[in-house]
Amino acid sequence: MSSLEAIYTKLPENLHDLPKPQSEKELEEMNYRVRHWMSTIPGTLKIGSKEHKQAVCQMFRETFNPYRPTFMNWPKLSEEEIKRLKSLPIWDIAVHTEGKARLRMAAYVKEIVDPEMADAIARNAWEENRHKEVLTDLVKFYGIPLAEEQEYQLPKDAEWAYMVTGFSECWDSFFAFGLFSVAQKSGFFTKELIETFEPVMQEECRHILLFANWLAWHRKNLSLIKRVKFEAKLYAVHAFLIYERLGLIREVDVDGQEYYEDNNFTINGVAELGKDKTTLKEFLQLCLSENEKRFAGYDRRLVRPKTAPFLTRLILRFLPKKLANKQLA
Ligand SMILES: [Fe+2]
Ligand SMILES: [Fe+2]
Repeated sequence: MSSLEAIYTKLPENLHDLPKPQSEKELEEMNYRVRHWMSTIPGTLKIGSKEHKQAVCQMFRETFNPYRPTFMNWPKLSEEEIKRLKSLPIWDIAVHTEGKARLRMAAYVKEIVDPEMADAIARNAWEENRHKEVLTDLVKFYGIPLAEEQEYQLPKDAEWAYMVTGFSECWDSFFAFGLFSVAQKSGFFTKELIETFEPVMQEECRHILLFANWLAWHRKNLSLIKRVKFEAKLYAVHAFLIYERLGLIREVDVDGQEYYEDNNFTINGVAELGKDKTTLKEFLQLCLSENEKRFAGYDRRLVRPKTAPFLTRLILRFLPKKLANKQLA
């Protein structure tokens, strides 16, 4: 086992010792605990301070959800429902994204000097590995075919790769929260499937909360020269992501075969997952409200991911009426 694999496959605690809810009431309490967290530190939390770092790492530890992928109860679905699941073009990219995320996070953990922050990001890598296991189990259970997995490349610049993953998660989660709600309202995903998948969605919310606070803490603790370099890198990461999202990046698999990943599922997905016609404006508003709901229970003094909600509000404000009322179909 490589040292990076050890990071994303081993939790500091023995997973089997983690408390498992014994009753409905305990399950309800656990679901509340993973969604609500307040630091005991009184007063303001200075961003970048030791207290800020301790608070965010503590949040990540204490809102941990101890579910085990192998014990997940995949609900029985009708043939029609399985067919619908199979028709979604997301499974390859979803499994691959989780696989990439766990490796990139683990690679960055190796470079972090602060043990508490390293521990938090190692836990994040572990949770990404668990997401991969959940998805792998799901596709196996419903017989969804997967393309052969691409070899995961070790990042040359671990900080760069971590930032690319972090910002990607910020954008993907923001739209996924909206899409998840669309699929729930339309019944595209059955109630049981929604309940089974809900912890994964909430976990992504905690991940981007950790990422936003790592970023805020990290940049405050850099010397002036390092800070200037870091800000330039940040711009480059955003430029790369825009380039990638425009579908301009091809991935090349181990056999040298080129393939494109579907980066436009967000827009096409509303039509695929929804039943009623949804306009662009309605969908963006839904993403905003779902985003707000998912973060509502965490200490307000922690930094929230801001870019996706900010740009969405801006778009909603200046979007021409014709485009805003365009139905996503
Ligand atoms: Fe994930
Ligand atoms: Fe994540």
